[in-house]
Amino acid sequence: MKHLLSAKDFTRAAAVELLDIAEDMSGVQSREVKKLPTLRGKTVVNLFFEDSTRTRISFEAAAKRLSADVINFSATGSSVSKGESLKDTAQTLQAMGADAVVIRHPASGAPFTLATSGWISAGVINAGDGTHEHPTQALLDAFTMRRRLHGAGSRGAALDGVTVTIVGDVLHSRVARSNAWLLTTLGATVTWIAPPTLLPVDASAWPVEIGYDLDDAIAADPDVIMMLRIQGERMRDAFFPSVREYARTWGLDDERLARLDEKTLVMHPGPMNRGLEISAAAADSVQSTVREQVANGVSVRMAALYLLLAGQTEENDR
Ligand code: ASP
Ligand code: CP
Repeated sequence: MKHLLSAKDFTRAAAVELLDIAEDMSGVQSREVKKLPTLRGKTVVNLFFEDSTRTRISFEAAAKRLSADVINFSATGSSVSKGESLKDTAQTLQAMGADAVVIRHPASGAPFTLATSGWISAGVINAGDGTHEHPTQALLDAFTMRRRLHGAGSRGAALDGVTVTIVGDVLHSRVARSNAWLLTTLGATVTWIAPPTLLPVDASAWPVEIGYDLDDAIAADPDVIMMLRIQGERMRDAFFPSVREYARTWGLDDERLARLDEKTLVMHPGPMNRGLEISAAAADSVQSTVREQVANGVSVRMAALYLLLAGQTEENDR
């Protein structure tokens, strides 16, 4: 694998292979010494033009646990504020010998531009680009579902027949888009539930079912319900009447939580707006996988870096 840009690029076999490697990586994380020498001598650059807590920290932990050197770059505090372009920033990284660049950017397509421009020779991983994609989030979500539904160590398994309902601000969510591609590739059925104003205009072209009523969606008894954050920072218009109205109609509140089957997994990529799209009780319930998703993110990102960079070593040695 040269780059990891989109969940759409994964075949079922490639996705299952990555999840299987992530299983091996999670075994490493429960050891006392959580480190493998696999990527010794490699340099991973975290290039973040947009805020992040989980993704940035977990890529850093993943690279370090594979013994790579890590350089963290965030646009705030860098020469981007002096007007430096993505191209010049990238070429600076190239000069520093980056083997992989993990990029988060507010512009959809920025990781693709970086990977195909010829500005750098490093492998590129998309850590979230605008409203477009967040493929490693979808991979960690799939990994979390597979572990909870099929048990830890369920190598080789996909998600055939699993029903996943994704609720909320689909319009601005790269998580919803990447999950639509990846989960359906793995055999799951995905339904997007949202107010019409928060669905993409081309929603019917996606490999998902569409619905507008959260209570109907709960009555359909899905295996997984994934709540999305209302992305205030991407909203320039009023997409719903009020926060209270949104929480009442689209939020997973305590009363809806009580109606969910106790086996239904409650997921959220984070960061959460507690009290808006999800209640504190739902976020902290035994059904919630929120903290597991973060822990699994490290294993999945170790697997991604391994596939990108360990193969590179073998190719170079040949
Ligand atoms: N953290 C995820 C993302 O960056 C989800 C979110 O921010 O709502 O896409
Ligand atoms: N889920 C996710 O991508 O979180 P961050 O935005 O904090 O990285």
